[in-house]
Amino acid sequence: MFSLYQKLSKFFASDIGIDLGTANCLVFVKDKGIVLSEPSVVAIAAGTKEVLAVGGDAKRMLGRTPGNIKAVRPMKDGVIADFEITEDMLRYFIQKARSFVPRSRRFLSPRVLVAVPSGITEVETRAVKDSAQRAGAGEVFLIEEPMAAAIGVGLPVAEPSGSMIVDIGGGTTEVAVISYSGIVEKRSIRVGGDEMDAAIMQHMKRAYNLTVGERTSEDIKINIGSAYPQDENNKMDVKGRDIVSGLPKTIEISEEEVRNALQEPITSIVEAVRGTLERCPPELAADLIDRGIMLAGGGALLKGLDQLLAEETGLPVFVADDPLTAVANGTGFVLQEIDAVDRAHSAMARH
Ligand SMILES: Nc1ncnc2c1ncn2[C@@H]1O[C@H](COP(=O)(O)OP(=O)(O)OP(=O)(O)O)[C@@H](O)[C@H]1O
Ligand SMILES: [Mg+2]
Repeated sequence: MFSLYQKLSKFFASDIGIDLGTANCLVFVKDKGIVLSEPSVVAIAAGTKEVLAVGGDAKRMLGRTPGNIKAVRPMKDGVIADFEITEDMLRYFIQKARSFVPRSRRFLSPRVLVAVPSGITEVETRAVKDSAQRAGAGEVFLIEEPMAAAIGVGLPVAEPSGSMIVDIGGGTTEVAVISYSGIVEKRSIRVGGDEMDAAIMQHMKRAYNLTVGERTSEDIKINIGSAYPQDENNKMDVKGRDIVSGLPKTIEISEEEVRNALQEPITSIVEAVRGTLERCPPELAADLIDRGIMLAGGGALLKGLDQLLAEETGLPVFVADDPLTAVANGTGFVLQEIDAVDRAHSAMARH
């Protein structure tokens, strides 16, 4: 039986979809679209849990804060590393999103749909639900990230033929084959953009005795990182600190050496895709020859990753138009669907 609250919330609560990502958090408000897109970073007062800034403001502080402020990323490897801080971050985003909800709909807690990695455990599932609830959500629903991404980029998930989505985020890469609105085969590895950044950092240390921060290595990846040869003349000046002398130093690096540095995480991603294809039922695998593979998530923007995957699998590979918003848009579509189903049920109940 539905409680009165549930009945009311169907018509009066706002619906919010959240892509709770390791690197970025996006919030979708029904009928409004994506209203927020901020890095999943929280600045706290050192030694306490007092939140000083969330999102973009906090990310700008990463690696630059004085001793009394700590900028942290509460989500690691696609899962919650620090529950309390994640909850604070969720609360901030949910509150901020509610300002986009029409006033008449603000008096009830919003129904919230959260996209979570498909490799998430029971305990983590519970934790996300509890955190969202304590952060101000009413009913909380969860959806697996690859399913949300596939819906968000417009793959025909409900059809009987197979589609493949590869979502390369900051902490995880999720590979899934979807058919009849269900995930038939999947693989989730805790390798994504963060591992690429770490690999670049390590390379700078080994090759040049240069320490660079997280943000610099991400810049290197975005500017001249690649998974497949692009332009051999691509070079970049990198500033960091010399390990031996302790002084600031500038080094010029090439696209080729960054590609070599990225080899390990890239190979893991290629292996995850190949492994999923190998385990995929033959009929669905056959569908993929025509359909190809769709890439989403920020990592899909790494230059040449599509070319490498095409070469390694022999299948056509496409990059989503806006890979960073795929999951959030997917939650939006699902919210509209839930709404339509609710309305249909209510209409039936009246008859
Ligand atoms: N142009 C680019 N080239 C390469 N990598 C990029 C580019 N733009 C963004 N990225 C990377 O994409 C990652 C963020 O992607 P996304 O926002 O999809 O992750 P997320 O959803 O927060 O993480 P997860 O899904 O693992 O929880 C970061 O590692 C970022 O450095
Ligand atoms: Mg993601």
